Amino acid sequence: MQHLITTSDFSKEEILELFEDARLFKDLTSNNYLNGKIIVNLFFENSTRTRSAFEIAAKRLGAQVISLDVGRSSRSKGETIFDTIANINAMKPDAITIRHSECGLPGSLIEHVNCPIINAGDGTHAHPTQALLDLFTIVEHFKGETEGKKVAIIGDVKSSRVAGSNRKLLPRFGMEVCFVAPDCFKYEGDEYKQYNHISEIIDEVDVIMSLRTQLERHHEVYFESLNEYAKDYCITEETLGERDILLLHPGPVNRNIDISDEMLKDPRCKVLEQVSNGVAVRMAILKKLLS
Ligand code: CP
Repeated sequence: MQHLITTSDFSKEEILELFEDARLFKDLTSNNYLNGKIIVNLFFENSTRTRSAFEIAAKRLGAQVISLDVGRSSRSKGETIFDTIANINAMKPDAITIRHSECGLPGSLIEHVNCPIINAGDGTHAHPTQALLDLFTIVEHFKGETEGKKVAIIGDVKSSRVAGSNRKLLPRFGMEVCFVAPDCFKYEGDEYKQYNHISEIIDEVDVIMSLRTQLERHHEVYFESLNEYAKDYCITEETLGERDILLLHPGPVNRNIDISDEMLKDPRCKVLEQVSNGVAVRMAILKKLLS
């Protein structure tokens, strides 16, 4: 049995095979690969894209989905997360998808279940399915030619599990990842190339991945207002000029803070393509783990 806790759970060959399936699923039509399977979604943090994409992916594959309303679950009566999982597992689902604010929680559940666990985002640690759909979008855009491409991840990188997963995944496919952020959002240490402003590297990058400022994970106020942050970090028409750069964002986008209204309409911006690809990639992941 295989789980998906971080992208390193899949080899490069497995990811390329996964993408072959994702390409077949790209039209998002229904099939019956997972007829008779039941998948339980446990989202202890808010979600629009990941939760809906997992539900749609499962249903497109013919599986049934139970999305537990965690706010109304017996967690409010004092049940521990491990007991909640043990009880869900006792009902013999075919997979459990979980999002939680605690880093490492999905990985720690593996020994308590008899089905695949899929990490749908754990705190600031990892968001493997997002990174896989980001990679798929990049691979499709560059027609498989990812070797040597430069990717700038811009914004609140320190709080971002998307940055955490992509910085490990994209280099496995020959890409060079750097980060652009104000000092308060940078990684500590000098392990990564980090810049203060996108203008320092705009002429070198092939992909910009913009991130949301994750106020809910901050323990102090870094900016009086996000408009102040946006003056330096919002991606606008002026930032990109005529350059042929692929613009991505995992969502949710804070309009005119992360990316301007105009750039969100620009053909170089593939935010909604990422969302569609997110269903196809998750269909491929569910097929791989449950078939
Ligand atoms: N990208 C992403 O994880 O979005 P949601 O929080 O809406 O799931």
